[in-house]
Amino acid sequence: MWSKLKLEIKGIDKTFVNRKEENYVLENINISVEEGEFISLLGPSGCGKTTLLTIIGGFQKADRGEIFLNGNLVTKPGIDRAFVFQNYALFPWKNVKENVMFPMKQQGMKKQEREEKFEELIQLSGLSGKENLYPNQLSGGMKQRVAVIRALACNPEVLLMDEPLGAIDLKMRQSMQRELELIWMSKKITAIMVTHDADEAVYMSDRIVIMSKNRGEIIGDIKIDLPRPRDRETDKYVEYKTKIFELLSKCYDEDII
Ligand SMILES: Nc1ncnc2c1ncn2[C@@H]1O[C@H](COP(=O)(O)OP(=O)(O)OP(=O)(O)O)[C@@H](O)[C@H]1O
Ligand SMILES: [Mg+2]
Repeated sequence: MWSKLKLEIKGIDKTFVNRKEENYVLENINISVEEGEFISLLGPSGCGKTTLLTIIGGFQKADRGEIFLNGNLVTKPGIDRAFVFQNYALFPWKNVKENVMFPMKQQGMKKQEREEKFEELIQLSGLSGKENLYPNQLSGGMKQRVAVIRALACNPEVLLMDEPLGAIDLKMRQSMQRELELIWMSKKITAIMVTHDADEAVYMSDRIVIMSKNRGEIIGDIKIDLPRPRDRETDKYVEYKTKIFELLSKCYDEDII
């Protein structure tokens, strides 16, 4: 199959210093992501997933190492990489339409183009008719969808998501996983998603990367070779899930030692 290297995470180190105490969070992290690939990052709390995602986003700098997008060095945030924050980060004083339009205005997109893009995205999200509602009038799942389409508004090349479905109940979460999958497939976008949910990772991902608390060391990089949409009941699906659980529980064992 033809594939193109989209994103290269090369030799990333990151240390935080708190009251003179060094916290070595990431050491020599390397991940290569192909164009259109959906990758999930899994690992115990505090292993550096958000830190790595924000370094890819260009929001903070690594102490060592580089991020390349299409072969170009990433030095700061850019519209080529969209970020969905864990808490959605919607503007509470803006309604759905204003929230989604905001980044397009910022980018200087023409009014007609903005309106057309908004129409496309609102259809995609299934939120037609909710354009004038404010975030406090939306359910968690709706807010999540607004955050995702807002992230897609400027046609990013890479979608970075930090536990985007974290606060959603199981039933809603499963239907959101399907919707997110459809959005991802229709846009053929490259995606990296942080999650704590092994089932979500197997359902959504082409590849699952598992980080440990040992300076973010990658202890598993597993390709999920299953047709989409995935059937959670199949033996192969369950096997993948068991494998992920085993790798994750290793991390927690290390924690106890
Ligand atoms: N700005 C910061 N200053 C100091 N320490 C930080 C900072 N950001 C993160 N850390 C530390 O870096 C480590 C990794 O944090 P990070 O938020 O990346 O973990 P995580 O894997 O996303 O965890 P979780 O699953 O709980 O979200 C933690 O020990 C955290 O305390
Ligand atoms: Mg985090």
